[in-house]
Parts: sequence; structure tokens; C-alpha cells
Amino acid sequence: MGEKITIKTAEEIALMRETCQVTATILDEVGEIIRPGMNTEEINSFVHRRTLEHGAIPSPLNYKGYPKSVCVSPNDVVCHGIPAPYILLMPGDIVNVDVTCYKNGFHGDSSRMYFVGGEEACSPEAIQLVKVTREALFAGIRQVKPGNRIGDIGGAIQDYIKTTGRNYGIVREYTGHGLGREFHEAPQVIHTARRGSGDIMRPGMTFTIEPMINLGTARTSLSKVDGWTVRTADGALSAQWEHTVLVTETGVDIMTTSPKGVF
Ligand code: MF3
Ligand code: CO
Ligand code: CO
Repeated sequence: MGEKITIKTAEEIALMRETCQVTATILDEVGEIIRPGMNTEEINSFVHRRTLEHGAIPSPLNYKGYPKSVCVSPNDVVCHGIPAPYILLMPGDIVNVDVTCYKNGFHGDSSRMYFVGGEEACSPEAIQLVKVTREALFAGIRQVKPGNRIGDIGGAIQDYIKTTGRNYGIVREYTGHGLGREFHEAPQVIHTARRGSGDIMRPGMTFTIEPMINLGTARTSLSKVDGWTVRTADGALSAQWEHTVLVTETGVDIMTTSPKGVF
């Protein structure tokens, strides 16, 4: 906080784009293997192996003592779920997989939601939550252009959530963040910010937008057992989607868009 926001050169952006594409490709691959009966440690070993095979390093591993290579957050887990062999994915579960890779001296950070057993297996409320959260991410992304302020992103997310007419909670304790040579750098991207607040966006800035939306209270609780896993305070479902974006001369470039299309 108070730190300067780094502006990436065209050369740095090219290097970072390659990292972001590895992240997106691994998320595509997770979509192909995820299935009911799998445990979340299997997702971890898959992401770890594929990251290395793509010539990258998993950024989460040993980051501030985090013990695994990916965050896997099912159902009421808001974020930072630690993969474990005893956490089984069941039909009807919704789960966030958050992949960050490091390659070429740069990080690329993105997360998606998956329907375990397919959309058919999930409740209408769960499906709606996942779709609304993805729309919230894109409402934020649409604010990204030179001259706008970082707070415009959170403002747009809140306005969008209001239009759903449902009692969703936008998580406040965890935010988007600048990234590049560092995993987390300035600016902080607050998903509940006021429009017109925060730093002015300038071409060459790179940061994540990663709203977490709860099907009940916005309040969260941090696990006293592992010190990482964040759950909804009321046990209701939570969803999250994340992209790494670049401010361009004219608008936005979603760097973690999959080679297979927009997710
Ligand atoms: N990828 C997460 C984010 O979006 C951060 C995970 S930190 C870790 O910022 F230590 F849990 F990996
Ligand atoms: Co992430
Ligand atoms: Co992030």
C-alpha cells in the first residue's frame, strides 16, 4: 500500500503474456480431468505436474508458507482452500481452482469455477451464483481503460450485483492485486470500492480482478486449523472468477484468456 504501480514495457508484456497463457491452458486442462470422486490433492498434483511441463513454476508453493501448488475451494470455501486427499469432490459441488504460474520472470494468475458432475448435477442457486460471479468479473473488466480509476471496477461490480435483486454478499477481506515480477503488488483492487476512488489506470499496468460472491452474508471466517482456508461465516455457497488484465492505450486486454476462447 502506498507502493508505486509498475508500468510494464512492451517487452515485459510479451514475456508476461506467455506466463498468463500457461495459466489459462492449465485451467482448460483442469476442466478436462475434473470429475466426481476425485480428491482435491489429485487436482494439486495435476496442476503441479502440468505447470512444470509447461516450463513454469507454481507461484503458490511456499508463498508465505502456503503448502501446495494451487488453491482448490469447494462450496462454502471462499478462497485459499488447501488441497488434501480427504477432500472429495461430489456431484453437485461447485469448486474454484485458482492457478498462478511463474515463468519468464513474471506471474500469471487466474481462477475459474467448475460444476462437479456437470451443470445438470448442480442446484439452480449454485448455477446462478457461478454465472452472476462471472458476470461481476466482466462488469469490473469493462471499467478497465486509461483514465478510469481502480475504484470504478468495484463500483461496477457492486452496481451489477444490485441489479440481480438477490441478497448476494461481496467479500471485502480479499481483493484483486497488481502482479508482474511480484505475485502481489500495487494496486489493491477492492471489489466493493466507490466509483471515482483509487489510482488512475495507465497503459502498461497489470492487475487481477477476482470477485468472491457469497449466497448469503459477505462475512468470512479463516480456518484456525490450517491458517489458510477461508469459508463463508454462515456456511452458504461462495463463487469466484479471476483474470489478469492489462491496461492498453485504448482499453483492456485480458491476458489470461484461454487460447480456446473466453472463460
Ligand atoms: N492466487 C491467489 C490470488 O488470486 C493467491 C493465493 S496465495 C496462496 O491472489 F498462498 F494461497 F497461494
Ligand atoms: Co489467484
Ligand atoms: Co489473484
